[in-house]
Amino acid sequence: NNRTFTMIKPDAVENGHIGGILNKINAAGFRIVAMKMTRLSSQKAGEFYAVHKERPFYGELVEFMSSGHIVAAILEKDNAVEDFRKLIGATNPANAEEGTIRKEYAESIGRNAVHGSDSDENAAIEGDFFFSGLEKF
Ligand code: GTP
Ligand code: MG
Repeated sequence: NNRTFTMIKPDAVENGHIGGILNKINAAGFRIVAMKMTRLSSQKAGEFYAVHKERPFYGELVEFMSSGHIVAAILEKDNAVEDFRKLIGATNPANAEEGTIRKEYAESIGRNAVHGSDSDENAAIEGDFFFSGLEKF
């Protein structure tokens, strides 16, 4: 329970917020275990968010997540999943608390700057989606 997975989404990359977001992640005490800047095809984005495929916003989500570059990273800290969800704030930035990453950088519920795993199990699955064993020290 000491690792989570994050993506800096295409809106935040386009708007020049990679550095600002990484600063907040470091300041909150997370260690970056692995990190890469890459781009998802719509097929890969659909696979990553397959749990949402019955939701009305799935098409929009997949289109957005494949619209530009993303930064994927595995993060380490005690209680990583829960503490990182707190650091990023509510899904809809209108409801995100002061000081959270989404409060500062998200544009809307769809273009909300960052992803954070919602369980230890999903953190491991999502980390494995982007990184091989050799990259995850
Ligand atoms: P992630 O960390 O990205 O998984 O966000 P989350 O766990 O806070 O939210 P959830 O897993 O429920 O939804 C996944 C993503 O779908 C969100 O981050 C949003 O980008 C998008 N999403 C959720 N609800 C809506 C919606 O009502 N409209 C749109 N356009 N996108 C939504
Ligand atoms: Mg989620």
